[in-house]
Amino acid sequence: MSQTEMKKLFESKFGADSRPYLEVRAPGRVNLIGEHTDYNDGFVFPMALTRHTTILAKARTDATVRLASAIEPQIAEFKIDAVVKKEPPKWSAYPRGVAEALRTRGLISVGVDALAATDVPLGGGLSSSASFEVASALILLVANHKQMDKVELASACQWAEHHYAGVPCGIMDQFISAMAEEGHAMLLDCRDLTRRQIPLDNAQIQFLIVNSNVKHELVQGEYTGRRNQCQRAVETIARHFPLVKALRDVTIPMLDESRMQMDPVVFRRARHVITENKRTLEYAAALEAKDWGRAGQLMYASHVSLRDDYGVSCPELDALVEIAATVDGIYGARMTGGGFGGSIVAMGNHQSMKALQAAIDLQYPEKSGRQATSFVTTAGAGAQVLQASQI
Ligand code: GLA
Repeated sequence: MSQTEMKKLFESKFGADSRPYLEVRAPGRVNLIGEHTDYNDGFVFPMALTRHTTILAKARTDATVRLASAIEPQIAEFKIDAVVKKEPPKWSAYPRGVAEALRTRGLISVGVDALAATDVPLGGGLSSSASFEVASALILLVANHKQMDKVELASACQWAEHHYAGVPCGIMDQFISAMAEEGHAMLLDCRDLTRRQIPLDNAQIQFLIVNSNVKHELVQGEYTGRRNQCQRAVETIARHFPLVKALRDVTIPMLDESRMQMDPVVFRRARHVITENKRTLEYAAALEAKDWGRAGQLMYASHVSLRDDYGVSCPELDALVEIAATVDGIYGARMTGGGFGGSIVAMGNHQSMKALQAAIDLQYPEKSGRQATSFVTTAGAGAQVLQASQI
């Protein structure tokens, strides 16, 4: 939705006044590799999309937040000093959680009239919710003339996701949405949050996101289940190796030593995390060395591990990766995000992008009974305040 269209819609929801609008935006993300490693103190390698959640707003003088959405009919309304956890509409859990996180830090007291719109596909495994959280946090900060350290902002948004949306996510999505650098993917160590921005050579490689259009609705219970299985693996391994605090600390020989004491499913979950951490570091090195072939192999290997060991793929995602593997110039492909639907990401040379889109249009409906939607993306910038003042 264009800015002019958003302004029109804002006026139809809240009426016109002459002050300029506050405006912020925060991107969705695609994770190139390093899946289900963030909550195991591991490594991830996401980049921001050039698609965003945008919020236009006018500051109020009281503590009320009224938030309209470009796609939902109901306006969410709450007071910053009396946020309630479970209140309709459902999507307002994100801004309510964020408002509570910022209020408890003493950062906000004034509310906004606001309108949110997004071109990040919802339920596509591309962090539409993290982009909504980060944009909500920024608009509230701007309206209150406050700034916040970006790491702290990401962790406030993660808190909102845990306590208001009920998903015990890791830090990856909020972190990359807040901190991305244009033209770069970020190698993030989720243990101590140290990071390296790795430039992507856009002249030689491109990324195609393909949404399976299977909504990952199951994900919440399954996600929590995977976290618990990882925890069980750590507890078992720590009996042999007391220094182990997270799967990050475990090698395959250490895991093998504990195999007999472990449920076979838990064993496979742990094996995925351990091998995925290694792949992620190797992938970043391969990209830096411009070894696209090696990087692509690691993406395929990641997909197989997520499918067979971690059990978070689905037939539609598998079909998309299989199709990608047959297209000339595609180096690698894998599911991205939490799984059980959502999207794959494929990496290839320029010519391969159109060829892959054509192959998917032809073969995916046959294989899955669905249509996929796809788009080429470069690495976008992190969250931005576009208009900070109303004076
Ligand atoms: C979701 C979570 C992230 C991460 C991924 C899997 O996107 O929000 O924290 O765990 O799943 O890598």
